[in-house]
Amino acid sequence: MNPLRPLILAAAESPRLKRALTGIPVTADIVRRFVAGETRIDLIGVARTLLNSGRMVSVDFLGENTTDRNQAEATVAEYLSLINDLAALDRPVLPGIAVPPVEVSVKLSALGQALPVDGPAIATENLRILCTKAAQADVWVTVDAEDHTTTEATLATVRELRCEFPWLGAVLQAYLHRTESDCREMSGSGSRIRLCKGAYREPPEVAFQRASEVTDSYLRCLEVLMRGEGYPMVASHDPVPIAAAADLAAQRGRDADRFEYQMLYGIRSPEQQRLAAAGSAVRVYVPYGSQWYGYLTRRLAERPANLAFFLRALVSKS
Ligand code: FDA
Repeated sequence: MNPLRPLILAAAESPRLKRALTGIPVTADIVRRFVAGETRIDLIGVARTLLNSGRMVSVDFLGENTTDRNQAEATVAEYLSLINDLAALDRPVLPGIAVPPVEVSVKLSALGQALPVDGPAIATENLRILCTKAAQADVWVTVDAEDHTTTEATLATVRELRCEFPWLGAVLQAYLHRTESDCREMSGSGSRIRLCKGAYREPPEVAFQRASEVTDSYLRCLEVLMRGEGYPMVASHDPVPIAAAADLAAQRGRDADRFEYQMLYGIRSPEQQRLAAAGSAVRVYVPYGSQWYGYLTRRLAERPANLAFFLRALVSKS
């Protein structure tokens, strides 16, 4: 793991730094690289281009850690409009792939999970509203993973709603010690699990710290999911898990619509296109909205080169 990552994530929590950085318009090159734009119109343009290129999309309306109920309700309203707009897009013909090409990704903390009274119940109810709409529109929903203090509540919500919406997806983070066991529990028939390494600053009591340990854990978890009966979503840009997924799929006779690769908008686009051209299902996670700060700082922390690029852009504009 990038040795600067904990430092960058800790610094990013400073309100002064946040004020300074969010003063930069979203058009700043580095923000634009990772975020489709501030509005749904910007997002739909990007989603259309990705779909036309043979890639699928999962769209995240940026926002997290809402402590205001009205804000959570505004987020639900935006997601409902987003699902409508995504459902209206022309769907690409992807030979051998029958899964819905459009999906939304959602953080429960944006739906009210962190509200001081009944937060998890409010978030669950809000997610139920989104899933009901998504089911009518043939749009999938996957619940993002946030920091480890939320994992138990988030998975409880997913388990509850999967009784009504068996296609509801969840994200598991390979850096958490608990995840291999969660993968075992959640690898049953129809279960959609997006496996990622994990992007938050976590203590050694709950998470592997070294990059090699995280990759090893990812590979163990991936094997559990690929041997299971569910639908694994291989969310990584790392060539090692990507190659391992191809090998495991071949061993298990999983064809292209029984698992998918997923990558973030703006990262390794040529690799996304290579996999899609080879007939694999590839989905790109596309964020939009004005609340890009938390998302962007996690992307900067993953790669020092991004931070250097960002600082250069800042200096050249000042
Ligand atoms: P790793 O960090 O080792 O990167 C491998 C290679 O990918 C790098 O060498 C570089 O080439 C490229 N790369 C990776 N990150 C880059 C960056 N920021 N900029 C430029 N190049 C980069 N996390 C989480 O905690 N909760 C979640 O819900 C999600 N959701 C999610 C969805 C999807 C679809 C993806 C792909 C990822 C997430 N993540 C996430 C983020 C994830 O946990 C992780 O932080 C990043 O994917 C980076 O890890 P990699 O597996 O790519 O490996």
